[in-house]
Amino acid sequence: MNKVYLPHVAEVVERVQETPTIFTLRLRFIDENVQNNYRFEPGQFNMLYLHGIGEIPISIVSDPADESLFDHTIRVVGRVTKGFGQLKQGDQIGIRGPYGRGWPLKESLGKDIILVTGGLGCAPVVSVIRYVTRRRDLFKRLVIMQGVKRADDLIWREQYKQWEKLHDTQVILAASEQSHAEWPWHTGHVTDLMHKASFNPANAIAMMCGPEPMMRAAIEPLLQEGLSEQDIWLSMERNMQCAVGHCGHCQYGAKFICKDGPVFPYAEIKSLFGVKGY
Ligand SMILES: Cc1cc2nc3c(=O)[nH]c(=O)nc-3n(C[C@H](O)[C@H](O)[C@H](O)COP(=O)(O)OP(=O)(O)OC[C@H]3O[C@@H](n4cnc5c(N)ncnc54)[C@H](O)[C@@H]3O)c2cc1C
Ligand code: FES
Repeated sequence: MNKVYLPHVAEVVERVQETPTIFTLRLRFIDENVQNNYRFEPGQFNMLYLHGIGEIPISIVSDPADESLFDHTIRVVGRVTKGFGQLKQGDQIGIRGPYGRGWPLKESLGKDIILVTGGLGCAPVVSVIRYVTRRRDLFKRLVIMQGVKRADDLIWREQYKQWEKLHDTQVILAASEQSHAEWPWHTGHVTDLMHKASFNPANAIAMMCGPEPMMRAAIEPLLQEGLSEQDIWLSMERNMQCAVGHCGHCQYGAKFICKDGPVFPYAEIKSLFGVKGY
C-alpha cells in the first residue's frame, strides 16, 4: 500500500459527551516519535479510521500549541460516526493527516476577525477561537457568531460565556427554533444579525463554516459592509476518500477540497459556490 494511506495508531485518552449525539475524542499517537513530530494548523483535518467500519474526514479542534494531545469533535450522522461514538477511553483508532489548507491566521494578524458558523460548523472554527484567545494581543476585535437550530444543539455553552468576557470580543448566538432549553440569546437566523457585529471592514477578515445556504446568506452583508472577496474565507465539506488529491471524490470544479481546501477564500470559489451539482 502507498505509505500516504497508512494510518498511525492513536489512543483515546479522554472522551467527552458534548450532547446526546456529539462527542469529543482527545487522542494521542501511541508512537511517541509520531506524537512529538505531529504538527497541524487550525482548519486542517485528519482521516480517522475505525478498524472494520471505515474512514472519515474530521476537523482538528484543539490548539496546535497543545503538543501532547489533539481533539476531534464528532456528530453521529451515519454508520462510521456511530462506530466512533461507541469508543471508550483506551480504545485505539487509525489517524492519517493533517490534510488541507487551514485558516489564514498569518494574514489575520493585527486584524479584526469575524467568525460565522452554523450547526456543528463550529468545530473547525473553534480551533480558531482557541488559537486567537490564547494569543489575544496579536489580533484586534474578535466577533463570534454561531447559529444553531435548537438551543440544546449549542455545545461549549460555558466557553461562549467565558469568551464573551474577553476584551474586544463580541459573541452573537442565535437559535432558529424555539425550544424548552434555557436560551438567553437571540431567536432567529444568525445571518439576520450581521448588522449587530461590530468591526472595521477596512481591516477585517471573515471565516465561516457550516451549511452552504447559511454561508451564502452571510457573505452578502459582509461584502456590503466593504469586506473584499479575498477577505472572506469558507470551509467546505464534500465526501472524501484519499484526502490527498488522487481519487477525485471531493472534486470541486478544477479544485480538490481535500488538497486545495477545505478552507478557501470566497474569491477563489465564487463561480462554483452555490451552483447546483457542485
Ligand atoms: C474536511 C471535512 C471536515 C469535517 N469535519 C467534521 C467534524 O469536525 N465533525 C463532524 O462531526 N463531521 C465532520 N465532517 C463530516 C464527516 O466527515 C461526516 O459526517 C462523516 O463522513 C459521515 O460518515 P457516516 O458514515 O457516519 O455517515 P454517512 O452514512 O456517510 O452519512 C449519513 C448522513 O449524513 C450526511 N452527511 C455525510 N457527510 C456529511 C457532511 N460532510 N456534511 C453534512 N452531512 C453529511 C449524509 O448525506 C447522510 O444523510 C467533516 C467533513 C469534511 C469533508
Ligand atoms: S478525497 Fe480524493 S481527491 Fe480529494
